[in-house]
Amino acid sequence: MLKGKHLIDPQDFSLEELESIFELAEEIIKDQNSFKDLCTGKILGTLFYEPSTRTRFSFEAAMLRLGGRVIGFSEPGSSSVMKGESIPDTIRTVASYVDIIAMRHPKEGAPKYASYYSSIPIINAGDGGHQHPTQTLTDLLTIKEVKGGFSDLTIGLCGDLKFGRTVHSLIKAMSRYENIKFILISPKELQIPNYIKTEILENKDIPFIEVERLEDVIDSLDILYMTRVQKERFFNEADYIRLKDSYILDREKLKLAKKDLAILHPLPRVNEISYEIDDDPRACYFQQIKYGMYARMALIAKLLGVA
Ligand code: CP
Repeated sequence: MLKGKHLIDPQDFSLEELESIFELAEEIIKDQNSFKDLCTGKILGTLFYEPSTRTRFSFEAAMLRLGGRVIGFSEPGSSSVMKGESIPDTIRTVASYVDIIAMRHPKEGAPKYASYYSSIPIINAGDGGHQHPTQTLTDLLTIKEVKGGFSDLTIGLCGDLKFGRTVHSLIKAMSRYENIKFILISPKELQIPNYIKTEILENKDIPFIEVERLEDVIDSLDILYMTRVQKERFFNEADYIRLKDSYILDREKLKLAKKDLAILHPLPRVNEISYEIDDDPRACYFQQIKYGMYARMALIAKLLGVA
């Protein structure tokens, strides 16, 4: 069903297709050893035109744990991109050597553009301030494991909602489930882009409010998705410095929250979650990292048609 498909946008897959990925990820979590030869003979290409720790490492670990191999670059300076090679030519070249490609790029739409020239699956590993669909697989798998499902949830998204691509993708994905409410917590300058409000939230009649103070709403949340202010997307440093510490989740604020709140963060964090709450049972962001690898293992296996 998913064999040969690209993953560019969180809504590229049907809910049934997503569920098949989560079911496979759950099987892998239970008995990883049974899947260790699933991708023998297959190669993943990782084309990272932008820095990454979790996404690149988890893709690589995922392929290696499935018995496959990995080639690629972690920054374009070591490739012929520096000589002016275009995305279509790079993709046609790498697609001659590997079976599947994970691509991160600073320009919005670059992985979609790449997919037009690719004979093999392209996975968007983050495109500028636009989308990050495999982080969304990670987030959804975490929500499924921690909350038991995707419906009847009030989700607070806090921080840089303008440039935070993981937030855009999560809203797109969660908007397809029943009885979801969003509370969008950000400074005015970093509010969610209008196209997400009109095309997703208003279009689907999904309840949402926009607020500036986390303390005013934290008690109503089932999930709190914290994000860092995206320094690399700002046009001037003064604005970044003014806004970077807008939200710091600490013990005092957490006293106001529900006992079964789940705190997620795509990471990396800068200042927005105090280290003092890392041991709180509600902090799920380290579990989330590991679910990201399992979700990517399942995704690779499905797109390659080996599971
Ligand atoms: N969450 C995430 O995309 O992290 P990296 O930038 O380290 O890959």
